[in-house]
Amino acid sequence: MPESFTPRQALQRARHDPQPLDANDWRGVIGAFTNGAFTDAQMAAWLMARVLHGISVDEAVALTDAMLHSGTQLTHKDSAAPVVDKHSTGGVADTTTLIVAPLVASVGLVMAKLSGGSLGHTGGTLDKLAAIPGFRTALNADTFLAQTRQIGVAIAAATRELVPADRLLYALRDHIELVDDTALIAASIMSKKLATGATHLVLDVKLGQASILGDDSKTRALAQLCVAIGKAHGRHVTAVLSDMNQPLGPAIGNALEVRAAIDVLAGRTFGRLGELSLKLAAELLHQTGVPFDTAYQQVSDALHSGAAIDRFAQLVAAQGGDATVVADPTAVLGLGEPVAVWAPSQAGTVTAIDTRRLGVLARELAGADMNLRAGLTTNLTLGMASDTVVVALYTDNPAQVAHATAVLDAAVEIADGPVQEPPLIQTVIR
Ligand code: URA
Repeated sequence: MPESFTPRQALQRARHDPQPLDANDWRGVIGAFTNGAFTDAQMAAWLMARVLHGISVDEAVALTDAMLHSGTQLTHKDSAAPVVDKHSTGGVADTTTLIVAPLVASVGLVMAKLSGGSLGHTGGTLDKLAAIPGFRTALNADTFLAQTRQIGVAIAAATRELVPADRLLYALRDHIELVDDTALIAASIMSKKLATGATHLVLDVKLGQASILGDDSKTRALAQLCVAIGKAHGRHVTAVLSDMNQPLGPAIGNALEVRAAIDVLAGRTFGRLGELSLKLAAELLHQTGVPFDTAYQQVSDALHSGAAIDRFAQLVAAQGGDATVVADPTAVLGLGEPVAVWAPSQAGTVTAIDTRRLGVLARELAGADMNLRAGLTTNLTLGMASDTVVVALYTDNPAQVAHATAVLDAAVEIADGPVQEPPLIQTVIR
């Protein structure tokens, strides 16, 4: 903390001085907040004042840096290969991490992934992995780093030592309605990503109905800011802006999404989930100097040769999971038959999908005890004929079927006429 820092002076300045603050100011305040010298009330007032003045790009970089230094950071000094990471701003039926992580490891990169649980309507990688019997995500830093050296991939829960300022700030933002501020989101995401020590990062930033901000121009600004923050910290960062107006893959729900990922890795299915996974993996390889088309071909070959699924099996085994899940996901994940199947009652075309609501429905089907095998499978895409839609429901609470039927009736709009399917990837910011 700078010697001159006092909470009262900081608050006076935050309120009255519209000029951007410098890195020392941000570090002083974040440091004081993290060690308790700045109270929640003071931090709330300070943050709100700065947001109202507008947080510049340089300030977002400084805030991220201050948050990053609030805790420990991982380093991959001994890594012989580039260390990479991927982040999604939150999708529905989006299980790309389980495909991209072993895939990039199988082409020689090191994927060091620290993940979180579900947030709002979107699934979380840790919850999905918990559906694999025995799979451990609580790894200490030494075990995590050793595994990345041995097999080139590890996926674990972020520890409390990493960016403690983010946990405190997030809780505060939630109280004062500042969760949806672009600069604060960017600093929150990027401080955690930078702390994992990866030098190459791809961000899958979702656009459309089920996106984090629900507004495409704000989402683009978020993507640009995240890339700027990463570059200012000397990292390779690419943001891929992908569509979230419809479910990405064929399953929503933890075990169901693990099976969907294995089906892509095994070459049984591909679709939009497979395509986005290849593009994200190719972006990471491209960042290391391989021309994009060559990179895409390389990851596609690794998927189709079985190299990626072999690496997935190694990942599962290394973290204590039952690697036979690869051969028989349905049995090992304990997936039974669906309790019901829904189809639209009206004839026509699927013209809109409340994808966000489908994400919430999958969680409702899981119930209070978070049944990891609950959720839904679906072939829903925009523009398809309504008589080809099938949604299968998985829950151990049959009383939920009537509720799910009402939700689906409202969430899937059927109307006349063609509808243009949005492109899977709208923009890439490098
Ligand atoms: N995800 C994060 O990590 N932080 C935010 O503020 C929002 C989404």
